[in-house]
Amino acid sequence: MDPPVQRLLAAADRWGTPLYITDLDLVARHLAAYAGAFPGALIAYAVKANPDPQLLRRLAREGAGAEVVTAVELALATRAGIPGKRIVMNGVGKRDEEIHLALAAGALVNAESLEELHALLRLAADHPGARIGLRLNPGLAADTHPHLATGALGSKFGIALEDLPLALGAIRTAGAALHALGAHIGSAIESADAFSTLAARLADAAEAAEAFGLPPVRIDLGGGLREPDAGSLVAAVTSHFPDPARLILEPGRSLVADAGWLVTRVVRVQPRPATATTFLVADAGMNDLIRPVLYGAVHPVSLVAPGQPLPEGHGTVHLAGPVCEAGDVLARDLAQWIAPDDLRRAGSGALLAIGQAGAYGAAMASVYNGRLRPAEAVLEDGALRLSRRRETLDDLIARDEPPER
Ligand code: LLP
Repeated sequence: MDPPVQRLLAAADRWGTPLYITDLDLVARHLAAYAGAFPGALIAYAVKANPDPQLLRRLAREGAGAEVVTAVELALATRAGIPGKRIVMNGVGKRDEEIHLALAAGALVNAESLEELHALLRLAADHPGARIGLRLNPGLAADTHPHLATGALGSKFGIALEDLPLALGAIRTAGAALHALGAHIGSAIESADAFSTLAARLADAAEAAEAFGLPPVRIDLGGGLREPDAGSLVAAVTSHFPDPARLILEPGRSLVADAGWLVTRVVRVQPRPATATTFLVADAGMNDLIRPVLYGAVHPVSLVAPGQPLPEGHGTVHLAGPVCEAGDVLARDLAQWIAPDDLRRAGSGALLAIGQAGAYGAAMASVYNGRLRPAEAVLEDGALRLSRRRETLDDLIARDEPPER
């Protein structure tokens, strides 16, 4: 997705840098594509990808649900107007209190271990009509970074397939019903093929549950697609689940990643003639966008406005942040995305946009190195609006106890 250069420039003028911008209309188009491909399905946006409040409110208006993993995400989703009936709670370490709040809100709660299922059934006794789900571990290693492969046999997530009979037995003993059966196999998955394997395993599991007298009302396929490609997902799963209205999807990244940019200004230029490289040192760093150093993620960079010329013989140009770690490099070899004439003008003062930053960008920002978290704004119907102002020193020290005297 090409960055909306004029809007990014205007936003940087208004709110400074580093700054996150999310295009809500593009997110809404991606959501509509999912809804069109899966009529009647619950599309539960994974709030962890980007909990921007205006984004959540827009998704609520567009009919999306929410996938949440903590009581705080549950609160963010309900405050944004997403009804409890459209919320799904996952998470391998949900505390009893969090489960209780989710049940009270009317959310579907997916148990991720037998122990958690027992807690869930106990807590559900106080909530008639509670919606209980099982998140299974389908033993499926999706082709992605190891940190992001959640469906593999050795990962901590989900109830092992071989324990499904025990789980069903516990539900029957409690006199409860099984609302949903599902899995989430990972994130940043490039091909939809893995989802056809997943659908096959879930279809077998659903059949087993039905034979047990506990037919699952809904099948939860989780999230995980890298691109907003609802069509290929449909193709991968329809033969196993022909009725789309039975499905729950939990997309995070594919709804928001390409709709977000991190706008940053080059602060200094560090030539390294010994290695024929030059670092542009920007005012955004790994604390603002941790994905490159944590997962080796590649984020495209565009020039929004030129700055000083780069020195002659600049060699390969990398974009680094100011953080005191050698790993704080946001993008390597900017010539991949920026034409030579533009690159020559990308020195100090230049404004750059880092793309694919709408998912797990602002959401994973930290204050490491005393770097206050960036401002966040949205673009909607041609208008720019601030969602969250930049963090301040007062915000940062607000929880500190006063010095003892
Ligand atoms: N459902 C569950 C249960 C999840 O754990 C996740 C993401 C999703 C849905 C949404 O997955 P998505 O469609 O966004 O791939 N911080 C990492 C991503 C971690 C994803 C964790 N779970 C990153 O920056 O790539």
